[in-house]
Amino acid sequence: DPQLVAAGEKVFKKCQACHQVGEDAKNRAGPQLNGIVGRTAGTVEGFKYSKPMAEAGANGLVWDHAELSGFLTKPRDYLKGTKMSFAGLKDQADIDAVVAYLSTFAAD
Ligand code: HEM
Repeated sequence: DPQLVAAGEKVFKKCQACHQVGEDAKNRAGPQLNGIVGRTAGTVEGFKYSKPMAEAGANGLVWDHAELSGFLTKPRDYLKGTKMSFAGLKDQADIDAVVAYLSTFAAD
């Protein structure tokens, strides 16, 4: 849905202080997010994750739409000890839009 993707691009401005997507995306304060939808948590090469994030991935957490919704609603409640310092997105429509936007970036 191109309208949802366009809305998600706007929501992603809240993430851009810490995350990059697209060609030449690099790890910054947060890991690059190319291919994040469907990726196992905590597995971007060269990024130093918190212990809880690394463990969640080792225990099988895969970022599908439902898991991303839970995390992005309240990151620090969803994953105790995460080092993602972001309050969360209050509006489920914003979450759906940003996930749609992120799903347009394939893994490198
Ligand atoms: C981790 C998305 C905002 C910093 C993550 C992960 C996702 C994500 C999906 C897990 C990555 C993985 O498993 O490889 C988002 C989205 C945001 C957002 C969609 C906006 C709505 C932010 C902001 C910051 C930030 C504003 C910095 C202030 C981080 C950090 C991690 C992370 C440091 C690693 C967490 C850890 O290891 O516990 N983010 N993020 N994020 N994000 Fe964000």
